[in-house]
Amino acid sequence: MVQVKNICCIGAGYVGGPTCAVIAYKCPHIKVNIVDVNPDRIAAWNSDKLPIYEPGLEEVVFDRRGKNLFFTTEVEAAVNEADLIFVSVNTPTKKNGMGAGFAADLAYVESATRGIASIAKSSKIVVEKSTVPCRTAESMRTILEANSTGDIRFDILSNPEFLAEGTAIKDLLNPDRVLIGALQTPEDRKAQEALVEVYANWVSTDRIITTNLWSSELSKLAANALLAQRISSINALSAICEATGAYVDEVAYACGCDKRIGPSFLKASVGFGGSCFQKDILNLVYLSEQLNLPEVAAYWKQVVDMNEYQKKRFVERIIKTLFHTITNKRIALFGFAFKKDTGDTRESAAITLCKHFIQEQATVHIYDPKVSDEQIFLELTEPGLLDNTEEVKKRVIITRSPYDASQDADAIVIATDWDEFKKLDYTRIYQTMHKPAFIFDGRLILDADKLQQIGFSVHTIGRPAI
Ligand code: NAI
Repeated sequence: MVQVKNICCIGAGYVGGPTCAVIAYKCPHIKVNIVDVNPDRIAAWNSDKLPIYEPGLEEVVFDRRGKNLFFTTEVEAAVNEADLIFVSVNTPTKKNGMGAGFAADLAYVESATRGIASIAKSSKIVVEKSTVPCRTAESMRTILEANSTGDIRFDILSNPEFLAEGTAIKDLLNPDRVLIGALQTPEDRKAQEALVEVYANWVSTDRIITTNLWSSELSKLAANALLAQRISSINALSAICEATGAYVDEVAYACGCDKRIGPSFLKASVGFGGSCFQKDILNLVYLSEQLNLPEVAAYWKQVVDMNEYQKKRFVERIIKTLFHTITNKRIALFGFAFKKDTGDTRESAAITLCKHFIQEQATVHIYDPKVSDEQIFLELTEPGLLDNTEEVKKRVIITRSPYDASQDADAIVIATDWDEFKKLDYTRIYQTMHKPAFIFDGRLILDADKLQQIGFSVHTIGRPAI
């Protein structure tokens, strides 16, 4: 069996960075090089202010950096000295061409794979860490074999990442499972065993699942589809709750007590965000269509449609409640990240909310504890969203505290479930707001009764107004 002593990770993003930092942390005998084509990102990984925020990440990186963990743009050297290479590059939804809006854009995976083929002077285990459509490993193998020189062998494994942003380090240190897929040949099984050995340094072997290559690739898409489907299911029920007087949190609790259903991931909200759920489901929809399974495609597509509906419904509720107009009204938006404990804003529900608020000519005062001003403006001026940078500059103000954001506001809208929003002095906030003072809890995190006693008009997802 190959003993892995040197790992290269291509892609220093939300997955590559934390995942391989934890490998370095748990395997001091393995040298880990994390490489990226983006020199700014690498510089940030080598600085005191890491490019991403994750609880516990700094401790892990600062402990191993410069010892057996290195961040570098020297791709060639890192690939050459590695026994095992993780490909952890981005796989966004295609914007143009065939499958646009659904299929995964595999250009970055292909470019990384071609890079490995042209650089490698010795045999390598190449591991798909990126989330990819089923059978991508086949294309990678073809590219590697067609472009490599000399007597070099490439074994391809699938090792999808199941970490959740916001709890990445906790998830990596104590994963529910690690999944490693390989072709069922003796050589591929040896490579699979070598990667099992790496994880076995801290993960008990009964949590390391080995499967065939295609099961592993599909499991990642399937897991994200199932998770997102639960959110869309409870969100669909939240609409019924609002119309009937049922409370969605009580319904979720009552349902979740059934062991067959379970309590996790049954929290209603303004909708899921993040770089993965929507992208991976659309990818599954595309795969189903390609396989001539239109009913299957339609089934999964509905999960994304319900998510869009939930955001639209929330905006409509806000406008209707604010006497059918928000023109020139001031809205305090609490949170811009797609969920708490991350600075990641990709596909955040807050973006859709802002888009509608700006289109309705409200002013939006945003507060988020971790997202930078530049990142917020970058998202809101993304081509295709509003296409009106001047309007964004005029109508969006970023504030340093929730108290500043809500000063003279007509309404507070909770877009992210940051814990600090639960502990604010809402009496103080109420006093500085226009009256009637409205609060729209899109995350179901606030105590509606207490807020009502203060004087707020409270509108919570999945509950009738009080
Ligand atoms: P990211 O965009 O944060 O990072 C990807 C990095 O790869 C970027 O820094 C980019 O510059 C770099 N890169 C692209 N092509 C390169 C090349 N040829 N050579 C060197 N570097 C290159 O993306 P993120 O979020 O880390 O996602 C990576 C993959 O992991 C995606 O397939 C995603 O679906 C998957 N995933 C993401 C999760 C998440 O929570 N963000 C969770 C599980 C899987």
